[in-house]
Amino acid sequence: MLEGKRILLIVSGGIAAYKCPDLVRRLRQRGAAVRCLLTAGGAEFVTALTLGALSEDKVYQDLFSLTDEDEMGHIRLSREADLVLVAPATANILAKMTAGIADDLATTALMATDRPILAAPAMNVRMWENPATRENLATLEKRGIGFIGPEEGDMACSEWGLGRMSEPDQIAAAVEDFFRQGLPLSGKRALVTSGPTHEAIDPVRYLANRSSGKQGHAIAGALARLGSQTTLVSGPSHQPDPPGVEMVKVLTARQMLEACEQALPVDVAVLAAAVSDWRAQTVAKGKIKKTGPKKAPELTLVENPDILATLSTKGNLRPRLMVGFAAETGDVIANATKKRAAKGCDWIVANDVSPETGAFAGDYNTVHLITEAGVEDWPALSKTAVAERLAQRVAGVLAAAS
Ligand code: CTP
Repeated sequence: MLEGKRILLIVSGGIAAYKCPDLVRRLRQRGAAVRCLLTAGGAEFVTALTLGALSEDKVYQDLFSLTDEDEMGHIRLSREADLVLVAPATANILAKMTAGIADDLATTALMATDRPILAAPAMNVRMWENPATRENLATLEKRGIGFIGPEEGDMACSEWGLGRMSEPDQIAAAVEDFFRQGLPLSGKRALVTSGPTHEAIDPVRYLANRSSGKQGHAIAGALARLGSQTTLVSGPSHQPDPPGVEMVKVLTARQMLEACEQALPVDVAVLAAAVSDWRAQTVAKGKIKKTGPKKAPELTLVENPDILATLSTKGNLRPRLMVGFAAETGDVIANATKKRAAKGCDWIVANDVSPETGAFAGDYNTVHLITEAGVEDWPALSKTAVAERLAQRVAGVLAAAS
């Protein structure tokens, strides 16, 4: 979700700077390019070597370094970023920002920047409560600076209270939220299922199907790119986790249902998983052996819960827009239209998964979108393009409804 975003991370001198290497990692995992600027105080707690190794970039420290200024002047440094993040933001740096003091590289960059600034304060509870800090925060807030945390808890100084820097993952999530603002699905929650499910027969064998998870994963990625907070509940799949998406990995249909129910409430659910309709009534504890009676074992199957039908009839918890898929090998439109009615969902994306279409494991899909208004035949598109088109349609409906 932070793909292509450049973050200038200003690390000032608080003990919480020890969390910054982790913060750099988490921001980069989400796709951001991170460049660090370390104050003299920050360098007492964390080394430039660590930050440089993790950010894979030079760490800037000195306003009066000819080489630094030659390579990247402080003005360029502050502008070649989409966001300036101050973490930890000590009482001292917040005070300097308020007063407009520019006496080192960090404060000079903060004065010179025309980019949005987010700060994650970290300080002792008394310093946080001090009227000077309170007034500084109010002023900075008025100037449009955003704050992440601080949290309440144990502090390095053995006191307890407000002032602890938010955890790196929370900071990275808040940065993502910041970039989501203004996107069509910002503030919306989405749930997507993807992949097959595996239903055990014994410890080594299972029932499954040929679903690759490509379409479902692409949809989750497309919804997240439009700004929704997206949970992807996936059965076993070799697809990479889509960026900016919360992953829940499951094996069986029953686990998938449970994970979906836990993700509620959401605004939209797109259930693209090829859920196994049945499971073995009893799962053998040990591997079923071929030796013994010369008769193939008989498998008694029982029906799995239908996740789409269950979520479509969830009363208050029913997602505002329920989208199902229909994998068909004949009479695609007629069968899918029946499925839409039978399962109580709003839309069905129908596709022909006959082996000759290559749809199940392939990269392309020819789908028909069945809604209350009728059937739309979409052209043959890559699964990524199907996902983007579907996500745009979802955004249109949710925007109209809110
Ligand atoms: N689905 C589900 N839970 C199940 C079975 C299917 O949520 N136990 C969902 C799928 O994710 C898909 C839709 O229902 O969104 C239709 O799935 P599909 O496999 O095409 O249909 P089935 O309901 O399994 O019916 P059939 O196998 O008879 O075609």
